[in-house]
Amino acid sequence: MNQLDSLQVRELAEADLDAVAEIESVSNESPWSRSLFAGELALSAEERLWIVGADAERVIGFAGAMFVGGDVHVMNVAVTPAVRRRGLGRVLLAELLRRSVANGGRHATLEVRESNEAAIELYRRFRLGPVGIRNSYYPDGEDALILWAHDIDSPSYAALLQKLSGRSGVIDG
Ligand SMILES: CC(C)(COP(=O)(O)OP(=O)(O)OC[C@H]1O[C@@H](n2cnc3c(N)ncnc32)[C@H](O)[C@@H]1OP(=O)(O)O)[C@@H](O)C(=O)NCCC(=O)NCCS
Repeated sequence: MNQLDSLQVRELAEADLDAVAEIESVSNESPWSRSLFAGELALSAEERLWIVGADAERVIGFAGAMFVGGDVHVMNVAVTPAVRRRGLGRVLLAELLRRSVANGGRHATLEVRESNEAAIELYRRFRLGPVGIRNSYYPDGEDALILWAHDIDSPSYAALLQKLSGRSGVIDG
């Protein structure tokens, strides 16, 4: 059985923080600390949305967004290395954006390392395209690409999210 068959997608909770910090520590070159994630949990639903994906045993990925007016700023997406390239990143981002649109989101944006081909390719599937560069955005001096997807509240984008979410077997929480 594929891990994604029993995937549950739900909002981040206090009990998930250790698992999320562990995934983050092996996923990002400048990882967020556990306390940074804990701080996000303290913010309101108007400001933030964080979701996790869990199989029958454990949390295997997460994604989060900040809301500024109608803009959805995707802050982070990460998947446990052992289960990458099986569609979880796609499901989590689709779910994050679907819930963000339900919260009033109209456009999506994010920064990504210009060398992060896996993430750039994932985002390209969501029509998140490059509009500029933030020079030396990361602590090690690497530049960030700035990506945007406009009108994520349109019917055509809803259809794209439906297609990308591959939602069979996903239990909403
Ligand atoms: C980016 C990341 C979240 C993708 O998660 P994932 O579960 O492996 O991605 P998926 O299996 O859903 O892949 C969806 C699509 O993204 C693209 N993609 C994912 N990994 C890729 C890779 N290593 N190389 C090229 N394209 C890739 C492909 O188009 C893929 O579709 P396909 O498998 O049908 O070709 C994961 O690699 C990760 O956690 N990376 C470290 C954290 C990170 O860089 N996060 C982004 C910060 S901005």
